Amino acid sequence: LTIDGPSGSGKGTISRRVASELGWHYLDSGALYRAIGVAAGWADLDLADPAALVRCAFDTRIGFEERSVEGRPGTELRVLVNGLDATDELRTETAGAAASAIAAVAEVRSALKDRQRAFRRGPGLVADGRDMGTVIFPDARWKVFLTASPEERAERRYKQLKDKGVSVTLDDLLREILARDARDANRAVAPLRPAEDAVHIDTTGLGIDAVVERVLALVRPA
Ligand code: DC
Repeated sequence: LTIDGPSGSGKGTISRRVASELGWHYLDSGALYRAIGVAAGWADLDLADPAALVRCAFDTRIGFEERSVEGRPGTELRVLVNGLDATDELRTETAGAAASAIAAVAEVRSALKDRQRAFRRGPGLVADGRDMGTVIFPDARWKVFLTASPEERAERRYKQLKDKGVSVTLDDLLREILARDARDANRAVAPLRPAEDAVHIDTTGLGIDAVVERVLALVRPA
């Protein structure tokens, strides 16, 4: 099952919930691009130097691991970049902006292709990203394209960041979202667009449960 859409469409939350309801594996493909972004930052690479970024995409070790986090109950899925837990750093706006720039480099995208395909395992995989249904898993059994108005996406991100204690303005976030949409939709390689056979769900005004139900209904019809 592929779930694609722009940032803030709720893909991450929805995909994780659907994967857990189905007992399937989950691929957060954006985390791979973010991980390369973070590794490039650690190595002080120039984001305008495609050759350096491609090397970085090949050399960076990225792992997903269920781990316990100090002060929190149970375990959670953490992302390891070159062996270090980079989960929190991955979610920053800096990492997101770096990921978006890096994702525009064709050779970086091909470097990550096989790594993403390796996540396909029984009993099933929920793959979350921008080109899951179009490029990485064009033969997926089910494809979903999630959208939401830019204003609502900015609002959601604003709440998330505020909960984390990050200070931002709604206007700045809306501007960033529109800029990132334009970059992701207009890049020459794997631009953000729905697969022809994707089911579109506009999540504007819909709660998480309602969207999860709609997606689950596709996979296990009543
Ligand atoms: O979904 P996200 O915000 O974590 O993704 C971060 C960036 O990575 C985003 O700007 C677009 C890029 N990306 C991509 O090009 N292809 C994917 N399959 C996933 C993410």
